[in-house]
Amino acid sequence: MRGILARPGGRTPPRGPVDPPDAGGGRAGFAFCTTAAAVAAAARGTAGKKRLRTLNPSRAFADTRKVNRRDRLPAPETVHLSDVFSALSFALDLTEGQPMGHALRTTLIAQELAGRLGLPLALRRDLYYAALLKDAGCSSNASGVFSLFGGDDRLAKGARMRVDWSNYFRAAFFAMAQAAPGASWFERARRITALARQGRRAAVELVDLRCRRGAEIVQQLGLGPGAADAVRSLDEHWDGRGHPRGLAGDEIPIVARVLTLAQTLEVFAMRGGAANALGLVGRRAGRWFDPLVVAAGAGLETPLERWCSLGTRELRDAVAEAEPGSAAMLAGPRAVDRIAHVFADVVDAKSPFTGAHSQRMTQLAVSVAHQLGWGVAEVAEVRRAALLHDLGKLTVPNTILDKPGPLTPSEWEVMRMHSFYTERILEHVRGFEWLAFASASHHERLDGSGYCRGLRGENVPALSRVLAVADVFDALSTRRPYRPALSIEEALSIMEQDRGSGLCGDALDALIGALGAGDADLAGEERQAA
Ligand SMILES: [Fe+2]
Ligand SMILES: [Fe+2]
Repeated sequence: MRGILARPGGRTPPRGPVDPPDAGGGRAGFAFCTTAAAVAAAARGTAGKKRLRTLNPSRAFADTRKVNRRDRLPAPETVHLSDVFSALSFALDLTEGQPMGHALRTTLIAQELAGRLGLPLALRRDLYYAALLKDAGCSSNASGVFSLFGGDDRLAKGARMRVDWSNYFRAAFFAMAQAAPGASWFERARRITALARQGRRAAVELVDLRCRRGAEIVQQLGLGPGAADAVRSLDEHWDGRGHPRGLAGDEIPIVARVLTLAQTLEVFAMRGGAANALGLVGRRAGRWFDPLVVAAGAGLETPLERWCSLGTRELRDAVAEAEPGSAAMLAGPRAVDRIAHVFADVVDAKSPFTGAHSQRMTQLAVSVAHQLGWGVAEVAEVRRAALLHDLGKLTVPNTILDKPGPLTPSEWEVMRMHSFYTERILEHVRGFEWLAFASASHHERLDGSGYCRGLRGENVPALSRVLAVADVFDALSTRRPYRPALSIEEALSIMEQDRGSGLCGDALDALIGALGAGDADLAGEERQAA
């Protein structure tokens, strides 16, 4: 790690072809870029832009600058893959009840351990991406954790990381602490009884779902079977008493053994300091952890304390520097779009009531952009912004997302924060600052009544207005925990009341045009089924 972090003047310039066909040398369309300059200068060209009709992104850009002092920089052709996964890992951290930066600190610890163990480059690469995406399956069981415990899924998941499940009394104490906290004694007793009845089997099923789904996502991203298997084996223990497969000793992939130790060190170092964390893993050596991997962590106090003190941007930069190999992995537009599609599914999996919302909403938003006559580049930007617009919803507990009734004012405040988190997460991808802002502004309204900034009139970017009509229409025309799906006519009639005051009239006309033209057929079929 010392060698990696001490590289003077930043990392070695990327090299190789840019955005090759999927069958090429990069993983899943990720590529080594020809020159460092190609990263910064390969901005999206303005040539070939079609003339926009009424709703003009450039005009909104100029107005937005006055208020927000944000430059609408053209999106770069390629971005650092580590930036993209670092940013998305913040969303996974929050879903998992961990502080932002948990996965990044885990990545740094894991790479240090791998270096000390002398793991070859291929395994260090697997470990790097597995560490960044280790919690990719976390949204798949959030609703299940909520229905099992009845409390905040993020708190239950965060606490689970600190419990020794091999100790019956500690496990029982955890179950009692997490079972419907804040509810009446009767409800808590009912929940604990149900937990006792479903017991270990239900918990293992939830772990299995999370590990399997996480591994599937890593494979969908094209990061290879080694990284996927590590994510699948994250909860296995050296003594064979882990989950879901009960692997023991060398049956557990070495990448998973390192990763399991690294994430535990991170959790306990953040809570009680590095010495405390190292002492704890030492006591679990030979039970939870491979003794050789534990031994490799000896004397790690100083770097561990330093990583725990870094802010999110410093962590992102340190993780970029720690990428194994001599060149940074880059993602071209197709690779970024693929990642966006996968993470849209991760967001939608958080609650059964938002299933496929991001994908449907994207289809609608793209159709609206087509109706407005936007060019290829703008449509591509709409697609990406739409896929990622609700990334911040991963931070909202299922007690709120799955609530079968109206939200209280405090719950509503938590819900409103999701667009703030969308921006905070996405802006960590260098070159995506504008996309982060526009995507996160999908709840802004022309009359200033929206959130999270309360932008008004022309200050609401054109892209955000397109997202807004697609988002509202999809929300109204699909089932919610507190009401059935509205018909297309009912949904449009409600939206008409907001025309010009909240929703942009041009964007609304384009939505009506898209629906009339049958541009959103798939979305319509799914809506009727909902
Ligand atoms: Fe939203
Ligand atoms: Fe949404």
